[in-house]
Amino acid sequence: MKVTVVGAGAVGASCAEYIAIKNFAAEVVLLDIKEGYAEGKAMDLMQTASLNGFDTKITGVTDDYSRTAGSAIAVITSGIPRKPGMTREELIGINAGIVKTVSSNLVKHSPDITIIVVSNPMDTMTYLVHKTTGLPKHKIIGMGGALDSARFKYRLAEAMEAPISDIDGMVIGGHSDTGMVPLTSHATRNSIKVSEFLSEERLQQVAEDTKVGGATLTKLLGTSAWYAPGAAVSGLVQAIACDQKKMFPCSTLLEGEYDLDDICIGVPVILGRDGIEKIVNIPLSQAEKTKMQESADGVRKTNGLLEL
Ligand code: LAC
Repeated sequence: MKVTVVGAGAVGASCAEYIAIKNFAAEVVLLDIKEGYAEGKAMDLMQTASLNGFDTKITGVTDDYSRTAGSAIAVITSGIPRKPGMTREELIGINAGIVKTVSSNLVKHSPDITIIVVSNPMDTMTYLVHKTTGLPKHKIIGMGGALDSARFKYRLAEAMEAPISDIDGMVIGGHSDTGMVPLTSHATRNSIKVSEFLSEERLQQVAEDTKVGGATLTKLLGTSAWYAPGAAVSGLVQAIACDQKKMFPCSTLLEGEYDLDDICIGVPVILGRDGIEKIVNIPLSQAEKTKMQESADGVRKTNGLLEL
């Protein structure tokens, strides 16, 4: 199985690294527009192969999409990352043009490809790929919820002083500081609702810290995060490549599900060989339904900035 990662910046390289370390793909093509950059990252990563014990072949290429031909899955990380104080939505002007060009080049060389969108504003970029590539909807996936859920579990574990492996939880809604909907009422520690361990006030704090998870890191790092985004993407790629039928919250085109239509936003889906094999409808409280609608309003506002 061949996987292409477009963008050899921090997120793209981390994504290639985690895919390789998990050792399920025959080949990862890392592509960047900056001359020699992807080649350098690929060579550096390949020199970790004997140390980390993987057989995945990582190839770096400069802007030559013919080398991506025959890819089953592509991850789009290209575009500018946010700087401290910026929202993901502010990136739309530059990133929309880049994502449009990248996705059409990918489809030209791999017509059956499944695309995972990471570039921000992610839900809107996922919608743009729908509107411009003609790929079936199950082959277009936005990565946000898997990352936001990992950050939610981190915050829950921190609040309960528990190991993260004890925690389960999910974040749905838009991948933005105001749009995320951490499902605090569904989160558990070893199947016991977290509300048994944490006060309502502490749970609200966990939810708020989760929603600004990316912004907190951007402030600390001076640019957006890469380890957790890379790891989250590699989980989605593996679920598709290995036909795992695993459930993740991902941005997907909704056509009536969750009372939403003509929008890409994060909801639980089953990922397998066919990409999004099923959208999972979970019961939401009235408050969560309202938050989901408000989140969708925010995503629609950003979608309105697209020149389609
Ligand atoms: C973040 C970027 C990937 O949340 O959106 O870190």
